[in-house]
Amino acid sequence: MSTHSVDSLAFDCLAFEPTHLPGAVALSQQAQWPHRLEDWALALSLSQGVVAVAAPGSDGARVVGTALMTPYGEDAATINMVIVDESMRGRGLGRRLMDEVMALAGSRPLRLIATRDGLPLYEKLGFREVGTVVQHQGPAEPVPQPVTEDVAPADAAALPSLIAASLTALDRHAFGADRSALFTRLAEVARFALLRRNGAVVGFAALRDFGRGKVIGPVVAPDADGAKALIAFFLAAHPGGFLRVDTTVDTGLGPWLAERGLRHVGGGIAMRRPAPQPAPTDTPATPVMTYALASQALG
Ligand SMILES: CC(C)(COP(=O)(O)OP(=O)(O)OC[C@H]1O[C@@H](n2cnc3c(N)ncnc32)[C@H](O)[C@@H]1OP(=O)(O)O)[C@@H](O)C(=O)NCCC(=O)NCCS
Repeated sequence: MSTHSVDSLAFDCLAFEPTHLPGAVALSQQAQWPHRLEDWALALSLSQGVVAVAAPGSDGARVVGTALMTPYGEDAATINMVIVDESMRGRGLGRRLMDEVMALAGSRPLRLIATRDGLPLYEKLGFREVGTVVQHQGPAEPVPQPVTEDVAPADAAALPSLIAASLTALDRHAFGADRSALFTRLAEVARFALLRRNGAVVGFAALRDFGRGKVIGPVVAPDADGAKALIAFFLAAHPGGFLRVDTTVDTGLGPWLAERGLRHVGGGIAMRRPAPQPAPTDTPATPVMTYALASQALG
């Protein structure tokens, strides 16, 4: 990639490398996002991306823009961590970064979670709204686990085979794309809880360090009762701990989370490009649904 000038801004557009991570963390802190270096590193390890670096002479080698493209096989990709330094906004840099990462995605259908800042840009690029993400977080208030559900921690040693045998397939039903690479990474950094019915694993939840505390997600379950039982398992394990759950309005979990100390603090607009076609009315319902995202970046 090479030096560019957009609206009199001079910057280099470069492939996003691990050496850019500290600059990216500074940029996300400026935008008041909670991501730690480790959170950026996890996203980058699953992605390709671009950074805009202020051209030497103007402002050293400061990272002034970022964007990642996370491919899930050939089925889908998410565009995420799109940030422009606040002193350089409104001059075309955001669009430039989007052009670069969208090109990296090739022909994959794209997904993203838009902030209010990003919405106009994404609409201009052909993304269409498909849902609303709600972010809940706070000190967890433990709740008794429903006795009617069988939720237990996954044995860490058995996790890789469990992921290969069933968790990736459950997630694929819910998400609509193969996220094996994500699950291989999560196996290294997350704890998993499993929901069993009639002896079979029918849902799961993951918990990992993120931002100010820990995040519960993905949560994949056959119904809301199963999802609540999985989340309740981790709430009970972390009384008073700062926990975060990113869910969607259509799961109906928001009020239940708020009652358990995880207040609604924000969210975003789920968008896709191209807009998905409505499913034929005779399409069978999927056996599971995503009740919490891995993160707003990763879907
Ligand atoms: C979102 C963000 C990356 C945009 O970067 P930017 O450099 O300001 O964007 P651009 O200058 O390239 O503007 C892109 C387009 O959006 C339009 N746009 C930007 N803000 C707009 C607004 N409030 N209303 C209408 N249009 C707007 C611009 O006119 C431009 O359109 P054009 O290319 O047809 O002229 C930047 O605001 C940002 O970093 N925000 C904080 C982090 C964030 O929320 N990121 C989005 C994550 S989903």
